[in-house]
Amino acid sequence: MSKSFYVTTPIYYVNDVPHIGHAYTTIAADVIARFNRLQGNKVFFLTGTDEHGQKIERTAESNGEKPIELADRVVKRFQNLSDALNITNDDFIRTTEKRHKSAVEEIFRRIEESGDIYLSEYEGWYDVRNEAFITETQYEEIMSLPEEKRPTIEKVKEESYFFRLSKYQDPLLEYYKEHPEFVQPNYRLNEVTRFVEGGLKDLSVSRTTFTWGIPVPDNSNHVIYVWFDALTNYLTGVGFPSDERMFNENWPADVHLVGKDILRFHAVYWPAFLMSAGLPLPKKVFAHGWWTVEGEKMSKSVGNVVDPYQVVEEFGADVFRYFLLREIPFGQDGDFSKNAIIARVNGELANGLGNLVSRTLGMIEKYFDAVVPEPGGLEVEDESVRDKALSTIELVENEMNEIAFHKALVSLWDFIGDVNKYVDESAPWTLAKEKNEERLGTVLWTIVQAIGVVTILIYPFMPESAEKIWERLGCPQPINSKLLSDAKEWGIVKPGQTVKKGQSLFPRFEK
Ligand code: MSP
Repeated sequence: MSKSFYVTTPIYYVNDVPHIGHAYTTIAADVIARFNRLQGNKVFFLTGTDEHGQKIERTAESNGEKPIELADRVVKRFQNLSDALNITNDDFIRTTEKRHKSAVEEIFRRIEESGDIYLSEYEGWYDVRNEAFITETQYEEIMSLPEEKRPTIEKVKEESYFFRLSKYQDPLLEYYKEHPEFVQPNYRLNEVTRFVEGGLKDLSVSRTTFTWGIPVPDNSNHVIYVWFDALTNYLTGVGFPSDERMFNENWPADVHLVGKDILRFHAVYWPAFLMSAGLPLPKKVFAHGWWTVEGEKMSKSVGNVVDPYQVVEEFGADVFRYFLLREIPFGQDGDFSKNAIIARVNGELANGLGNLVSRTLGMIEKYFDAVVPEPGGLEVEDESVRDKALSTIELVENEMNEIAFHKALVSLWDFIGDVNKYVDESAPWTLAKEKNEERLGTVLWTIVQAIGVVTILIYPFMPESAEKIWERLGCPQPINSKLLSDAKEWGIVKPGQTVKKGQSLFPRFEK
């Protein structure tokens, strides 16, 4: 039965231009969205931009522009990422939109009605770059760092509305205990639990010393804290508070994908806000790791920020997508380098998959005038290719349900390796020489079925390449009309279809 599935990415901060870290979360979310569609689920996939806050107000001021001008200018670079990376988001939300203002006002009011908001004064430290209030423990940690590694923090003393976060310490701990799948990977749940066990102080949720934000309802001297504002985008995107039908169909989100740096906002503050507002919590928050570049932290001052548009230009979107998800287990940190990409292209894409497709289609052109042959009786080795295909589908499905992209890709390439071995062992070229046409037909038929299954399974990861292979297999309907259940029926590529070998799918790169 089809279910609706709601996946989100963190909304990009428009103070920056896109880099591979941004591309990473979005690509991962896209693969989840596409895989769910393949499973027959109705998907809603949201991304967008985070446009308020002190940092943006200051940057705009130093550029001599208005904050909204800065946001309007930068947002395009993020919106265009969807085209460049083949991202299939259903909506793109900007926190400066009117619909979002209504949602933020509404959740603020609901929390106020629960008695969880009070007016007081915040006196303490603030990290403007990360738009984060610094707790005493964090302050001590920062001060113990060597000076050049300390984030810039400022002393703040101003009237502020507070959210009674302290009240949610026990409810949160209880929730984590009852829903261990809420924060993934598991080791991140331990971190979050330890943080909450350490004690929660009430959280300042408004500021008065600048104006670039959503005013507090009924007190426009205050703007709402940018994280409170930004997190609410996940509700706005599915119609909160006006479109009840859409909201009920999609909320709670199935998964919020986030980087490990912003897990606390998503796994502590956000669920507490929702509990207070009487709204269901997202089913899962998955925190991924961070990319370094050639061993170093990406930073503007080092000058090593990798532009995703450039990677796409050099390697293509599919290779980029494959690399990011295959290189490291989702959740762990990784290192980005051209040599690492090239090693994957040459070893796995060109040799493994590219070679299988091109030699198979080449043989069908040569021995059967490019027409997929009818199979004769299947032998044990043909059946074992079929069995392995079916078990691979099941494995990949389980691994994707766990958001273990690299495992899914390893399973797929393990199957590709087996099929290449089957080609070598059944030696169609020898069967052709012996004029054993029936056996030759059966073997080539078996190989194209395996390629058909692989093509459907790689489609969420590498949509352009999958489309190309699908066309070369001569399949009449577009690949995006196919479901995983179609791949389970051994025989998706029909005899009589005309194939085309075409040019190399993944040209090799020199190191
Ligand atoms: N605006 C906030 C999110 C608000 S969500 C309600 C934000 N934006 S961001 O633009 O700074 O980051 C967007 C995403 O990119 C985050 O998930 C972050 O973890 C991710 N990455 C930023 N740099 C990264 C790397 N170097 N490596 C991997 N991902 C990183 O945070």
